[in-house]
Amino acid sequence: MTNLQDKKVYDIESFNKEDWSSAYKNVEKELTKEPLKISRGKSIKNLNGTLLRNGPGILERGGQWVHHPFDGDGMITSIKFENGKPFLTNRFVKTKGYLEEEKINKFIYRGVFGTQKNGGILNNVLDLKFKNIANTHVVKLGDEVLALWEAAGPHALNPDNLDTIGLTTLNGVLSPNEAFSAHPKIDLNSKTSSELLVTFGVQTGPKSTIRLMEFNNAGENSGELLIDRKDTFNGFAFLHDFAITTNWAIFLQNAIDFNPLPFVMGQKGAAQCLKSNPNKKAKFFIIPRESGLFRGQPPLIIDAPEGFVFHHVNAYEKDCKIILDSIFYDDFPSVGPDENFRNIDFDKYPEGKLKRSTINLKSKTSELETISEQCCEFGVVNPKNLGLPATFSWMASTSQKQGNAPLQAIKKINLISKEELSWSAGPSGFVSEPIMVPSEKSSEEDDGFLFIILWNGKRRGSDLVILDAKDLKELAVYELPISIPHGLHGSWVN
Ligand code: CO
Repeated sequence: MTNLQDKKVYDIESFNKEDWSSAYKNVEKELTKEPLKISRGKSIKNLNGTLLRNGPGILERGGQWVHHPFDGDGMITSIKFENGKPFLTNRFVKTKGYLEEEKINKFIYRGVFGTQKNGGILNNVLDLKFKNIANTHVVKLGDEVLALWEAAGPHALNPDNLDTIGLTTLNGVLSPNEAFSAHPKIDLNSKTSSELLVTFGVQTGPKSTIRLMEFNNAGENSGELLIDRKDTFNGFAFLHDFAITTNWAIFLQNAIDFNPLPFVMGQKGAAQCLKSNPNKKAKFFIIPRESGLFRGQPPLIIDAPEGFVFHHVNAYEKDCKIILDSIFYDDFPSVGPDENFRNIDFDKYPEGKLKRSTINLKSKTSELETISEQCCEFGVVNPKNLGLPATFSWMASTSQKQGNAPLQAIKKINLISKEELSWSAGPSGFVSEPIMVPSEKSSEEDDGFLFIILWNGKRRGSDLVILDAKDLKELAVYELPISIPHGLHGSWVN
């Protein structure tokens, strides 16, 4: 582990922390089909489809702030393009907890990332119930739009106006409020269906069970569960994301421990009780996909490299190996009980780096190689290449080459030659996950658009930026009529 205290490498003048932290405020209003005005560039002719984004929309109630933005209630933004013209609709996910707290404008639930109820430890001790905040991802499955949060069930939304229909069991597939990951993968290369949604749920404890599910997501029986498989592993599992290849689902179990005592005692949020254990080995859980060649076989468990991973970028098979690209941190980044997330010292937190694991399924070993030293997050490939070899990846990164800082740039990297191209929104713009939408006319892997919701620190508002995925040229910028805090994940629906 590197000593993070010793890494004052970035240029402090490069960004103003208030420009960055000013994004953290409640979303003020809900709009319906609001036409967007272009502020730079030209609209994209004949563009049709909908950009969906999720992220925390309530960060403060009655003067009390959440302890971590990940504890904020989910707010969905949809930007629908009709022949190139964009219209914005946004809605809070009306979860049970949101409605209860909205009524009295007060937090009455503790957050997983450390938000406590007012009244100190005594008011939090032994209160283990939590609120399903539906704030992490938003995808289409069958006829429904789902707002996802990994520790509980999905919320169904009306695809036209984003009104909350409620918690869904997906036609009885899930038991009520069963954990359903916030990182489904859309597989466009399966023989089973022209579009599959592959996802998982984890039930954790001294033993952890991963439920791997594959849903048809196209045609007449869209939304139908096709494949369902359960595997149990020893130990506590913290699995935020996973990766798929044609034949495998790949999970990286970080070497961390969960000590629930401070959570039970009302001192910390559950996620603040996660801690790396240097004496433990991270593991890959490699589960055969029932649609693949190794159906019915038990999973492989292989030692994984050191480090902590939230997000994977892509994986594919090559000979008897799996190549897996992920964003690695030296340690688990958690905002401690005495820290203020709006004023964190970036130097004290580990930065994410793009690294490649080569997992040998024969020798059951893995090797790690750093692809880029630059701090990054939210890496994607062309959705058509998901699970297959990809030459290009796009991601959010810092503007500078070294050290930790807010994500201000969009980077394109050639994963073979390691050549990079960058577009920066600095010094006052802050980016989020880029959504890559391939061009319909072209089969070239990097032909398409990147959609980015950006926090414009200068005007203290949100912009939608569309970049050309090939050369990262700015094509169009729209000023949004709502301010959206730094968000999490999203998707594109045709
Ligand atoms: Co995520």
